[in-house]
Amino acid sequence: MKSTFEKYVPFVPIALPNRTWPGRQITNAPVWCSVDLRDGNQALVDPMNVSEKLELFHTLVGIGLKEIEVGFPSASETEFEFIRALIEGGHIPDDVTIQVLVQARAHLIKRTFEAIRGAKNVILHFYNSTSTLQRKVVFRMDMDGIIQIAVEAAGLIRELSKPAIEAGVNLRYEYSPESFMGTEMDNAVLICQRVMEELRATPENRVILNLPSTVENCMPNYFADEIEYFISKLPNRESAIISLHPHNDRGCGVATAEMGLLAGAERIEGTLFGNGERTGNVDLVTLAMNLYTQRVDPRLDFSDINKIREVFERVTKMRIGERQPYVGELVFTAFSGSHQDAINKGFKYMQESESELWEVPYLPIDPADVGRQYEPIIRINSQSGKGGSAFIMQQNFGYDLPKAMHPEFGAVVQKETDRVGKELKPERIYELFQAEYVDIDAPYRLIRHSFAETTDAEGNSHVSFAGTLAHKDTVFDVSGEGNGPIDAFFNAIRGQKMDRFTFVDYKEHAIRSGSDSMAVAYIHLRGLDGKDVFGVGISHNISLAPLRGILSAINRAKKQEAK
Ligand code: KIV
Ligand code: ZN
Repeated sequence: MKSTFEKYVPFVPIALPNRTWPGRQITNAPVWCSVDLRDGNQALVDPMNVSEKLELFHTLVGIGLKEIEVGFPSASETEFEFIRALIEGGHIPDDVTIQVLVQARAHLIKRTFEAIRGAKNVILHFYNSTSTLQRKVVFRMDMDGIIQIAVEAAGLIRELSKPAIEAGVNLRYEYSPESFMGTEMDNAVLICQRVMEELRATPENRVILNLPSTVENCMPNYFADEIEYFISKLPNRESAIISLHPHNDRGCGVATAEMGLLAGAERIEGTLFGNGERTGNVDLVTLAMNLYTQRVDPRLDFSDINKIREVFERVTKMRIGERQPYVGELVFTAFSGSHQDAINKGFKYMQESESELWEVPYLPIDPADVGRQYEPIIRINSQSGKGGSAFIMQQNFGYDLPKAMHPEFGAVVQKETDRVGKELKPERIYELFQAEYVDIDAPYRLIRHSFAETTDAEGNSHVSFAGTLAHKDTVFDVSGEGNGPIDAFFNAIRGQKMDRFTFVDYKEHAIRSGSDSMAVAYIHLRGLDGKDVFGVGISHNISLAPLRGILSAINRAKKQEAK
């Protein structure tokens, strides 16, 4: 690409040495405007039909959008029909304003007024292109000519508004100097000023000045400089609402919107999941949720993001990527072992400390806040570490494996992931656990047993154990005494071939199994060779569970020796 990059014209930033926006913070949600039904729709391979548009409209209302651009009624019959269906069908709640787009051309403006008849709240949005490139290549016109187009359109709109306003429509105006980002800033100010004058903008009747990055062509900080400059030069600024309409050609739409807000913008136009022309419009979901994670109420509701995604994918026939912020299939999943471990600790910390703050590493947001679940957070593949499998056992099945056992079980799972070469689902991890620790009854098996327990005057307990064990086909009886079931059992097997282990540690807890409660015991033994081995026993009987755990550990050690 060495010889071809030279044909591009780099963006020339404006000089703004005393910029103030980098030191500011976003403390309030902007006014949101969805352009899904216009900008988003016009960029679809198969544009939505009327019923699909209606469904998406109701979804947008459900999310809490109060300003919704519903179409470009002069552009096609379907667009016109949809707007009529919305109005005549009584679909628009009283607190929602519909917005209609039109080019700054007389016959299109007239048709647009026909489309909005009978609506309660309307933003009439008109635009013409103002950039240096469009003036040179498309319109072959100087700036005066471009200003004249906008001002004449504004005059006609004001004229045609009178009967609509008299008929009770709450009508507001929006003007977009299309391709604002590539317009000389003084020209952008001038055209907006003239349009505002023509529309008789006042602080009571503010005109929305929508500043689009029609094609994103510079870094977000340069765009923010433009916005700060524009606002500082705009006469009668308090009679305008500064709106942004970022596209995403450089992949910086979200940053452009956020920095533009820092620079003084008050309103954002965008789409769900960043649908729209080419690389899309700015993604309203990411913007809103970014605010949410900074403890700013976005005033949009994404608490059931999967439902919104389902509607979006069905009506637009677009697919959301696995890594799309806040919604993608994989965004609440950690593959890396160290991430899994830290997430595990974060959940534990929150539980123990009863913290009301979200303090879980690697998860910028609580998945539950967008209706996602904890279960799929950790998935196990060959990149996962020792803690991940134990976490799955705890989160999904209630088994709280002792920390010392994590590496051993991690290695069991790792072997399987290496063998199958893909991710393991929690159910498979459970199966591996059962097969490795629970369903292991060879070579030693406990056939029958009994305990007798007495407690002396000081409260010390004394346990006698008697049992019948099998080693392959040989059956033998053992008995022993101790201060508890484990001690008594160990004493009972002393002298047998199975006694070459020392007891290191033990942990037991209850798990629910259907409506039943079971005891699960984890036994940690050390062989004469110094090797550690773990066993797990499960039983309704809390004294029997550890015995099964001991046999599980011994049987596992024998199996390993045999290899
Ligand atoms: O991207 C753009 O400039 C537009 C305008 C019509 C606002 O969609
Ligand atoms: Zn656009």
